[in-house]
Amino acid sequence: MVYKIAVLVGSLRKDSLNRKLAKQLVHLAPDSLELKLIDISDLPVYNSDLDDEGTVPKPWTRFREEMRAFQGILFVTPEYNRSVPGGLKNAIDVGSRPYGKSIWQDKPGAIISVSPSSMGGFGANHHLRQSMVFLNVPIMQQPEAYTGKADSLFDENNEIVSEDTRKFMQSFMIRFSEWVSANAKTE
Ligand code: FNR
Repeated sequence: MVYKIAVLVGSLRKDSLNRKLAKQLVHLAPDSLELKLIDISDLPVYNSDLDDEGTVPKPWTRFREEMRAFQGILFVTPEYNRSVPGGLKNAIDVGSRPYGKSIWQDKPGAIISVSPSSMGGFGANHHLRQSMVFLNVPIMQQPEAYTGKADSLFDENNEIVSEDTRKFMQSFMIRFSEWVSANAKTE
């Protein structure tokens, strides 16, 4: 079985190190996973009045409908001020409502944090885990992926320089495939 995985990148900037890694993961993932990067850059900031009053912004609807097609979620995110970037947190909030219609419910997930600092976005990674517990997303516990010193991760073709890092990412994706297979709800 091939599982469709939505990849949510926590950075919106064009030269994002996180997006570079996410694009490499599309190729490094085993054939059992089909990865697609999802755009979260156009989502207005969540305000429940718009759901309650039926004036739902089109990008919210597009995002919520698009996400329903996936069996799993992969987050690739930087850390902003020791937490999750606002744009990604907003996407999580938009997807979690209206109440009872969360797009996250029961979808197995995994988190890779990426930072130029040596701590590898540990704070963002764990704040994101906290939200996922509440949203009933079974998040893969091991291996953890705190990708530090990410400003020297890629060559001029945006490919991963270190063979060890490439192998780690490959094995991470194999373990994620097993995690999705074990936890995905089949309809
Ligand atoms: C950062 N950065 C950062 N890095 C980190 O390791 N811990 C942190 O708490 C923060 N805080 C932070 C706040 C804000 C507002 C910005 C813009 C940046 C640095 C960050 O890791 C770096 O810019 C990365 O390159 C961002 O990821 P992308 O955009 O390259 O994917």
